Amino acid sequence: MSAILIDGKTVSAAVNAETARKCAELTQKYGCRPGLAVVLVGDDPASQVYVASKVKKCAEVGIESEKIVLPPTASQKEVLEVIDRLNGDSRIHGILVQSPPPPQIDEEKIILAIDPRKDVDCFHPFNAGKMLQGDMTGFLPCTPWGVMKLLEYYKISLAGKKAVVLGRSNIVGKPMMCMLSCKGVDATVTLCHSRTANLEEELKRADLIVAAIGKPEFVRGSMVKEGAVVIDVGINRIPDATRPKGYRLTGDVAFDEVAPKASVITPVPGGVGPMTIAMLMRNTLRGMERMMNR
Ligand SMILES: NC(=O)c1ccc[n+]([C@@H]2O[C@H](COP(=O)([O-])OP(=O)(O)OC[C@H]3O[C@@H](n4cnc5c(N)ncnc54)[C@H](OP(=O)(O)O)[C@@H]3O)[C@@H](O)[C@H]2O)c1
Repeated sequence: MSAILIDGKTVSAAVNAETARKCAELTQKYGCRPGLAVVLVGDDPASQVYVASKVKKCAEVGIESEKIVLPPTASQKEVLEVIDRLNGDSRIHGILVQSPPPPQIDEEKIILAIDPRKDVDCFHPFNAGKMLQGDMTGFLPCTPWGVMKLLEYYKISLAGKKAVVLGRSNIVGKPMMCMLSCKGVDATVTLCHSRTANLEEELKRADLIVAAIGKPEFVRGSMVKEGAVVIDVGINRIPDATRPKGYRLTGDVAFDEVAPKASVITPVPGGVGPMTIAMLMRNTLRGMERMMNR
């Protein structure tokens, strides 16, 4: 079998084009653009890159962005003051604090301080709870929502299918389980983690595998059923002296082994990756829509 290769760049471009169209409509209607505030605490190089690409994407789709950079020594109080100010700013419809913050910052307190109406990462328990109750019309966690968009774009029907989600983080695995099992999608989901017994057997029974564990090439060809759909969320840096940056990116799936068995598969990079920012833009749009329709 030769697998269909999911093209996250094409799908994210389509999502972004629609976001841009809707942003223009909102701007026309209300005389102001959707606004996203991105808070970066510290000088972690990877975080700087992520923040820069979010700001760039905002400009492309017509979202006003405000970037706030605090020094690595910033206190919890200083970060909370910034969030308070952004919570009260009517031009801002989405707030995100780039993860991970420096160790003196309690990330959970930061999440709880963000007004749930501006929680575009969908980390606040209010929004996570709404999603768990089956409400998919509010903010949704960007990466799993991006996976759902990919599946939708490629018309992959999951009703009655067996899905295995590998990894149980609050950011990816748990919300992924929730979205795949919600009414209308209707997959039967098994959530696996580091303590799962007979993990290989679970994977071999899956019609859909979503791998999100941060372990390079963990899912081998022998663990995958013939014809399975395989979505690789993992982004891992592997040292590679032949590359200009000294590393290459690889997913949680051993692509060369799994692709010949899968019916559909995502590459890394260029699969799930570009979807995350696209869905962040979509959440910001939802933030403004909901605020204006209150
Ligand atoms: N494409 C994107 O935009 C995007 C966005 C977010 C994350 N990611 C990538 O996705 C991956 C996962 O991210 P995350 O934030 O969800 O990770 P995380 O918070 O570190 O969680 C990892 C999960 O994987 C499980 N796990 C670890 N080793 C395992 C093993 N050997 N067997 C089975 N389960 C195992 C852990 O189980 P326990 O709970 O039992 O410890 C945990 O539930 C990373 O590579 C990350 O870079 C990509």
